[in-house]
Parts: sequence; structure tokens; C-alpha cells
Amino acid sequence: MKKILITGGAGFIGSHVVREFVNKYPDYTIINLDALTYAGNLENLRDIEDKPNYIFIKADITDAKQIRSIFQEYQPDGVIHLAAESHVDRSITDPTAFVMTNVIGTVNLLNAAKEIWSDATGSAQGFAGKRFHHVSTDEVYGTLGETGLFTETTSYDPHSPYSASKASSDHFVRAYYDTYGLPVVITNCSNNYGPNHFPEKLIPLCIHNILNNKPLPIYGNGKYTRDWLYVIDHARAIDLVFHKGKDGEAYNVGGFNEWQNIDLVKELCKQMDEKLDRPAGTAAKLITFVKDRPGHDLRYAIDATKINQELGYEPSVTFEEGLSITIDWYLTNQEWLDNVTSGDYQQYYEKQYQG
Ligand code: NAD
Ligand code: DAU
Repeated sequence: MKKILITGGAGFIGSHVVREFVNKYPDYTIINLDALTYAGNLENLRDIEDKPNYIFIKADITDAKQIRSIFQEYQPDGVIHLAAESHVDRSITDPTAFVMTNVIGTVNLLNAAKEIWSDATGSAQGFAGKRFHHVSTDEVYGTLGETGLFTETTSYDPHSPYSASKASSDHFVRAYYDTYGLPVVITNCSNNYGPNHFPEKLIPLCIHNILNNKPLPIYGNGKYTRDWLYVIDHARAIDLVFHKGKDGEAYNVGGFNEWQNIDLVKELCKQMDEKLDRPAGTAAKLITFVKDRPGHDLRYAIDATKINQELGYEPSVTFEEGLSITIDWYLTNQEWLDNVTSGDYQQYYEKQYQG
């Protein structure tokens, strides 16, 4: 019986990873550790919360003492670490929160894993069969020009406080491998989309605003490019790397699926008009160009050759299929949207887009 501790399991990607592991591995115990910040929502996991192999613990990874005692009590064999502050715009407003969770929180988890996995003499013998999987982002590589792709050997060059904090955490994870021999793997994934995506990020924000006839804010000229992957395909990649990746290695994850923001939003508008039975062009009238994001990275694009060739990974859905499933999910889960867009979030959103 393996015990896997998943951090950030109540968030967008984490909830899909938790579901994948709980359903696919009934002989594992899956421990979901999450602080339930504004981005964490146990509603995301209602369908699996009563499964016998699932445990939820509310805890904050910035609290080293609390984390150490959870590791002592549950003795996990593996860690899949997703807990993070994840929104670039929020990192511009409050960088320190990103340092605390993404850097200090990661180091706290590394220390706890190192401590409980070392054997009685404190040596690395106890690391056999253990794994610390750090979930990271393509944003650590900085920005691309019009051409080229990020590979696993591209130099780190983060520009936002968010990507700087993720880059820093990646460096700590590697340092624990090099220095202590902690068995780590890292995945660097491109932009995810899908059900349960918090509506401060581009795709769910636009779906929410189309439903409510609100402007669709496009930063700058809209020609910024992102490489989009369906969230369940990210969860599948994490499963693959967690079980079959090599210690000390990083794997880029992506779907070779680049879109300029403006084209993506127009495609979304088209599909939303069709699904809502509104005249073609209705949603696109809401497109509004707004002030650019400071330090906005021009283009991200992942070269996913390594994970494909070494581990046989391929995405399971096309972008058209994934986007259609995603829109349908939001249309049938408007209560989820209403719940997460009330209260504090509404105030943040209004402040963000004032003027
Ligand atoms: P999210 O913001 O939706 O969820 C983050 C989760 O972490 C939430 O459940 C939140 O409650 C929890 N959390 C935050 N601070 C915490 C703390 N101090 N202690 C414990 N839990 C805490 O994020 P996401 O989009 O699901 O991203 C998950 C991970 O994947 C992050 O590490 C992110 O950097 C990485 N990633 C995201 C994307 C993307 O497109 N969203 C792409 C590549 C990598
Ligand atoms: O690349 C992976 C990263 O993708 C993850 O590491 C981050 O956690 C995740 O948030 C995401 O970062 P982005 O900044 O790329 O995602 P976001 O949805 O915020 O923005 C996508 C693009 O759309 C980006 O070019 C900024 C632009 N944008 C975003 C918002 C919210 C707009 O034009 N208008 C908007 O209102």
C-alpha cells in the first residue's frame, strides 16, 4: 500500500491529479494537503471525497512545523507538489505571497521529505523507492521570440514574480537532488485549460464574462502566444512521470498547440455563441483591448519530444474537443462559477480592472 501526498489538490490542476490517482490506484492512499486559499475548493472533489483511499488535510505549506508533523504522522512514500500561488497578475500586486508559498513552502516540503525518508542513521539509503515530484511551469524559461521551442535544456530566464518564484523552487528541488540525493523529478508544463479552472485566468474569465455580458479584457495587442494543454492530459503526464520518470530529470509537458490570445478568444466566442444559441458575432462584440500586463512574456511553446520519446506520452484530446468539453462543463456548472466569483474575488476583480 503506497501513500502519496498531493499538495494543492483542491485547486484546478491538483483536483484533476487527485481524481486520477484516487480512481486509478485504489491500492494507494491519496492524501490531499491544501490550505484552501481563494483558489482551493473542495467542491472540485465532491465525486471522490467518500472513497476509502482518499484523505484531506487542511494545512499550509509555509508552516514548517505543521508540515513536518504531517509527514511524521502519515509517512508518505511519494509527494506530488502542486500547491502554489499561480496567477501572474496577483504576483505583480503581491510578490511576497509567492515567495512564501512557492519558495519557502517548497523548501519546507523538501526538508520534511528528506527528514522522514533518511534512514535511522540519517543516510540516503532510506530514499530507495521514494519520489518527490515537483510540478512546475514553462514560464521559468522566460519568453520566446517568433520562433523556437522551450526544451529541458533551455536556460531559466523568468520575468514575473510568479515565474521567478517557480524558477527558484525548481532550483531548490534540483539542489536537494545534487546535494542530498533526494529522489526528485520535475515537470514543466504549458498553459492548462479545462473544468474547475479559476475564472481569473484567460479562458474561464472569458467564459464567465460572456455568460454575464461583461467585457472580455485582452491585454495589449492580443498577439501574445500561449501553448494550451487540456488539464486531464497534464494529470496523465504527471502520473506517467511520477511512476516512470528518472530521478533528477525534468520533463517538459505540452500539446504543440499554440494560440495567439486574440485568436483563442475569438474561437471561444464562436463556440459560446453556437452553444448559447446566440447570433454569430454576439460574444465577440465584448472583446475589449486593455492596458498590457507589465513584463508580459510574448510567447511560450513547449517542445514535448522528451516525454513523448522516453515515456510514450501523448495528449488524449484535440484542442477543439477539449475546449468544447470545457465550455459545456462551465455551462452545466454555473453554480460553481457563481460561488467562486462572489465575495472577495469580486472585489479583487473590480479593483484589477478599474479604469
Ligand atoms: P491553483 O491556483 O488553481 O491551485 C493552487 C492550490 O494550492 C489551491 O488549492 C490552493 O488552496 C493551494 N495552496 C496555495 N497556497 C498554499 C499553501 N501555502 N499551502 C497549501 N496549499 C496552498 O493552481 P493551478 O493552476 O492548479 O496550478 C497548480 C500547480 O501547477 C502550480 O504549482 C502551478 O505553478 C503549476 N502549473 C500551472 C499551470 C496552469 O496553466 N494553471 C501550468 C503549468 C504549471
Ligand atoms: O504557462 C503556464 C502558466 O500559465 C502557469 O504557470 C500559470 O500558473 C498560469 O496562470 C498560466 O499563466 P498565464 O499568465 O499564461 O495565464 P493567464 O490565463 O493569466 O493569461 C494567458 C494569456 O492571456 C496571457 O498572455 C495574458 C493574457 N490575458 C490574461 C487575462 C487574465 C489577457 O489578455 N486578459 C486577461 O484578462
